[in-house]
Amino acid sequence: MAHVRDDLLEHDIEAYLDLHEHKTMLRFITCGSVDDGKSTLIGRLLYDSKLVFEDHLTALTADSKKVGTQNGELDFALLVDGLAAEREQGITIDVAYRFFSTDRRKFIVADTPGHEQYTRNMVTGASTADLAVILIDARKGVLTQTRRHSFLVGLLGIRHVVVAINKLDLVDYSEEVFSTIEADYRTFAAEVGITNVTAIPISALRGDNITEVSTNTPWYEGPTLMEHLDTVNVDDEHSDHPFRLPVQWVNRPDLDFRGFAGQIAGGRVRVGERIRVVPSGRESVVTKILTADGDLDEAVAGLSVTLCLADEIDISRGDVLVGAQAPPSVADRFDAHVIWMAEDELLPGRPYLVKIGTKTVNATISAPKFEIDVNTLEHKSVPTLTLNGIGVCTISLSQSIPFDPYVENRAMGGFILIDRHTNATVGAGLLNEALRRSDNVHWQAVDVDRSRRAAMNHQRPVVIWFTGLSGAGKSTIANLVEQQLVSLGYRTYLLDGDNVRHGLNRDLGFTEVDRVENIRRVAEVARLMTDAGLIVLCSFISPFRSDREMARERFAEGEFIEVFVDTDLAVAEQRDRKGLYAKARRGELPNFTGVDSPYEPPESPEIHLNASGAESAEVLATRVVEFLTVEGRIAPEMSDDNPNDGQ
Ligand code: ADX
Repeated sequence: MAHVRDDLLEHDIEAYLDLHEHKTMLRFITCGSVDDGKSTLIGRLLYDSKLVFEDHLTALTADSKKVGTQNGELDFALLVDGLAAEREQGITIDVAYRFFSTDRRKFIVADTPGHEQYTRNMVTGASTADLAVILIDARKGVLTQTRRHSFLVGLLGIRHVVVAINKLDLVDYSEEVFSTIEADYRTFAAEVGITNVTAIPISALRGDNITEVSTNTPWYEGPTLMEHLDTVNVDDEHSDHPFRLPVQWVNRPDLDFRGFAGQIAGGRVRVGERIRVVPSGRESVVTKILTADGDLDEAVAGLSVTLCLADEIDISRGDVLVGAQAPPSVADRFDAHVIWMAEDELLPGRPYLVKIGTKTVNATISAPKFEIDVNTLEHKSVPTLTLNGIGVCTISLSQSIPFDPYVENRAMGGFILIDRHTNATVGAGLLNEALRRSDNVHWQAVDVDRSRRAAMNHQRPVVIWFTGLSGAGKSTIANLVEQQLVSLGYRTYLLDGDNVRHGLNRDLGFTEVDRVENIRRVAEVARLMTDAGLIVLCSFISPFRSDREMARERFAEGEFIEVFVDTDLAVAEQRDRKGLYAKARRGELPNFTGVDSPYEPPESPEIHLNASGAESAEVLATRVVEFLTVEGRIAPEMSDDNPNDGQ
């Protein structure tokens, strides 16, 4: 490809910089496996756009001789497969972003491996791409992996697809082979919602129809790959939508200036236009649009801007400025596609962090309604999602957020899931629709409320949560605590693991997923019971810290009292009243806590009881009751209008 910029660079530096600055940007992803010639293709695009530097080239020539697969000729794949380990294995292992440019455009290409075990990498690369190049080996045609790649491309909202039918030199540049594969592909693509398909016959190795029109394919009249990438229009997608600006930060350098900065996630905005702030619903008029390059009258999707408004209204990070005419919905419960990216499986019911736009909130995810087999597109019934699994789930957020469905706006409907403890990204997702809009579902206010019921019982309702190994003594101690409380006149209820598992939770076993759900249900029931004015004792192994935290978060400060019944495994195992440890050791009871399933001790429980020592269960129970009474944890709140007074 001829480069005007080289001349400009020498003769007119101003013009060169201007040209470069006003180039548009295209982000695309390449899908295919190493056998399809993907790395060779990218290497050639970089090489032909002259972005391979001299020293690289020297190394490449040497490497091509040493480890290349092209008999000493330049092996373009070596440009891309940068890591030594990859070269040895002959596969690409991660998402690599590469940059190159032509006179018209700048490009960012996400190069991801094609194998199924790298689905998460591909999803990552595809989530920001506007176009996908899907490589097909002309000798093999549309394969399972082509379908998988196309499904993911369609799911992630990429509207423009180039099918690069590669290695045409190996099928004698046959028009028939090309046309058959193209027709095959179009049929399938329509099924996964891809309608905008451009098929190009190429040989990445020989350079046919990459940047130069090939004389080997006289029957092909379309553009070369580079020409297509250079000219395809993908802007329509973002700027035709309603205006959206998720506020990244509020810029307030002094009292006279207040601007709201962020990247426009959809549509356009003009000075003088009326905007609305969601979720608050306040409205104002845009007075200024500032960018790094000066003020604008109008700005479109993709630009990073700072907006100034006519009125002083309260706006903070995470709010979204939107066109007053087309505001998004606000909701806290969604139907969503979830793509699981962590080695540990998804735990339905456990809280994760959801980052959507500039906002991060707590969320729980239901068990999948179904998982999608990425190869056959069949729906499967599964209890949870494992690494690279894609399913449809219900996701519930701890607060309402403004959103658009992902298919309408990727930035307003795409999210990532983060583990609350490790901060690792464990998944990604796409919001499909709201299941409960905050606009029209309200909490039913009741007249006899929780404080009234608590006052009627002359107590302050709390949850006393006993955690520890099986056989630690939780139930024995909880039982004694309840007896003492009742004899002091308190109204209580004891929820015990073994008992609850006979009724409410009879459908649950002991996998991690089931234990999370066990604790979630029990925490919900305990919350209803405290609402009803009771002191609730819960005795559950509850081996996972996150789940106990989830339970704690359902209650007000001071209302959740965690009691760690700390017994050495050896002591608990020796007691083994139910004979379960022995069974587990014989391998007859899988996932037994302490044997082949972990127990995570509390870090700062309100009460820590050493239950392996000499103190009896009675003494330990008394300690719990003393904590509750002496610290005033369960004494009724002072109130002038106790409904029981004077009766
Ligand atoms: S939890 O882990 O989900 O909190 P929970 O307290 O409800 O467990 O139930 C534990 C009781 O179930 C134990 O006391 C024991 O009697 C019984 N049990 C049966 N199988 C297992 C197992 N694999 N691991 C732990 N407890 C088990």
